Amino acid sequence: MEIPLIAPSILAGNFGKLDSEIEMLNASICDWIHIDIMDGVFVPNISFGFPVIEAIKKKTLKTLDVHLMIVNPDAYLERLRDAGANRITVHYEVCQHLNRTLDEIKRLGMKAGVAINPHTPVSLLHDTVMFADLVLIMSVNPGFGGQKFIPNTYSKILEAKQLCARRSANCLIEIDGGVDLRNAYELCKTGANVLVAGNTVFSAADPDKVIAELKSTGTIHPL
Ligand code: DX5
Ligand code: ZN
Repeated sequence: MEIPLIAPSILAGNFGKLDSEIEMLNASICDWIHIDIMDGVFVPNISFGFPVIEAIKKKTLKTLDVHLMIVNPDAYLERLRDAGANRITVHYEVCQHLNRTLDEIKRLGMKAGVAINPHTPVSLLHDTVMFADLVLIMSVNPGFGGQKFIPNTYSKILEAKQLCARRSANCLIEIDGGVDLRNAYELCKTGANVLVAGNTVFSAADPDKVIAELKSTGTIHPL
């Protein structure tokens, strides 16, 4: 089993002490920092925008993994790159010309991901995976941290793996929503490469230790 990349979601952090949250992540073995951008239209919540991304970028050398839950991602790709995004993931459900959007993200020098909501079948990515660097499978309905993991995610991981193999696509599979120390092992065993974790990390007494435990799920037995 592969060792997963760990991407703590800063949405669950304390914005009153953003600097020390980032310092904690810098000192941890997390791989990416997951940044959830919500516009109050695609999802029923508003998170934060460019100034926060810029502030995070100034404090870290970790990869900034930007997850756009917004209706018009094309309008903001270049500004996000300039703010410090290394990777951008857009939602299948909002892109009229998804393959063009993925190409544009890559042209701007970033890695391109496509996200699917729990109601969106993996099969709809048949003509897209070969243009993407990553498939993000939402394991909760997007909009909020701290929700309950949807078990149907496991079969979607398997389908995504099979689809990528059939289409000779080299995509990481990222799981976002309700990831914790109980499901991380099974997710990795099924084929997840990247685990996003918000509340599991930031609500922990020792976030740094939880990040290390999540990371080791690829090599240890379940709880
Ligand atoms: C949900 C976001 C997630 C969220 C995960 O819409 O995309 O990234 O922050 O938070 P947890 O891990 O608490 O479910
Ligand atoms: Zn996210």
